Order: sequence, then C-alpha cells, then structure tokens
Amino acid sequence: MPRRPPASAPPEAATSAAPFVPPHPTLTTLREAAARCRGCHLWERATQTVFGEGGRGADLVFVGEQPGDREDLEGHPFVGPAGRLLESAIAEAGLDRRRVYLTNAVKHFKWEPRGKRRIHQKPDAAEVSACHPWLEAELAVIQPLAVVCLGATAAQALLGRGFKVTQHRGEVVPASFAPLVMGTVHPSSILRSTDDEARRTERARFVEDLRALKRALEGAVGGTRQGASAPPG
Ligand code: URA
Repeated sequence: MPRRPPASAPPEAATSAAPFVPPHPTLTTLREAAARCRGCHLWERATQTVFGEGGRGADLVFVGEQPGDREDLEGHPFVGPAGRLLESAIAEAGLDRRRVYLTNAVKHFKWEPRGKRRIHQKPDAAEVSACHPWLEAELAVIQPLAVVCLGATAAQALLGRGFKVTQHRGEVVPASFAPLVMGTVHPSSILRSTDDEARRTERARFVEDLRALKRALEGAVGGTRQGASAPPG
C-alpha cells in the first residue's frame, strides 16, 4: 500500500545530512533533529526517520543497513524478523542487551512498490554517504567500546569500501570510532538461507562471531562493562 508518490530524485541527488546535525549533540537532540532530516531524498517515501536506540551507557553498537518495513512503520530499529534473530543471537552469545545500542547506516526506509507490497531496496553509496553524519554523530556521543557492522552496507560505511564481509567477517580490528570493531553478516541474510539446515549453520556462525566479540571485550584493556556483570536496574 504505497502511501506516497515515488521518490523522483536520481541516486546522485543524495547530498548530506550534515547541515541537519546539531552542534554539541546528545542522543536526544540528535534524534529530534534527525526526525526533520531532508539531507537526501529518502525521507520522501519513508513514514518516518528511524533513529538508533539503546540502553543508557551502552558500550556496544550494532549497525545495520537501513530500517525495514516494520521498522519504518513503528519508528524503532530492528523490531522485525531480522531484529528478532539479532536479539536471540545477542542473548545466546552472552552479551548484555542492556548495554547494546542498535542503529543503521541509513535512517530512512528505501523501498519500491510491487503491487501492494513495499520491497526493500539497497541504499546506494551516495545515500549511505549522505546519512553518514548521523552515524558519525551517534558514535561520537556514545564512544562505544565495540561496534558490530551487520552486513556489507554497514561495514563499508564504517570500514571502507574495500571491506569484504566474506573475507573479514569475525575479525576484531581497532578504528578511530571504537577500539573494537567487527564486521559480520546481516541477520537478514541468515533468514534468506535456502533451507533450515543452512539457516541453522549460518545462525551458529553468527553467534560464534558475537562470542568472539565478547571475548575481545573481556580482554580489552581498561576493563569492559560488557564483560562485567551489569549494575542493578
Ligand atoms: N534491517 C536493518 O538493517 N535494520 C533494521 O533496523 C531492520 C532490519
């Protein structure tokens, strides 16, 4: 049920969110400002901006590609099927969910109508780059100990276009925005596995990547809040 006219702007029309990012931001002021972002054309077809969310004092950031259909309608990241898989994998890996912040490389749902359905479209490089100031600002405010890039779009947004998830998944590397950064597959790719056995295998590999990250967090200099038990409340 497309409710808005197709976005007419060509991909190269994507410009930048930078003018919309407030000075000296907090997550609250960022979220409010992002709701009004017109930095590229993707807002035209989206229901709303889907900004990152997480626990206070989160030190582990998961970055996906862009909100999906459910996220666009509800206004929260990772509330659809991929989000459920992610939540269960985080729990199984023993990471503390209260210290996780979930966000995306692109904050508006990009889709095209097919009959009554809204079909996900991969954001192009110009759209990812236009949205990057939001992700950069989120990471600057949060100053996470670790960042997990879910899939190629997030990994290339943060680690460069040369990053290949197939070659480097599960490796923990330092970066300017966090001491521990890992790229792995996107949970949606696990859901797209051809059969149940492949899905089980891919999910187990994904959990193994998150366990490797947990070990890196536990070994990180200066102690980790993820590695330690959570404070009450
Ligand atoms: N996929 C993503 O990359 N992000 C979401 O928020 C939901 C699905």
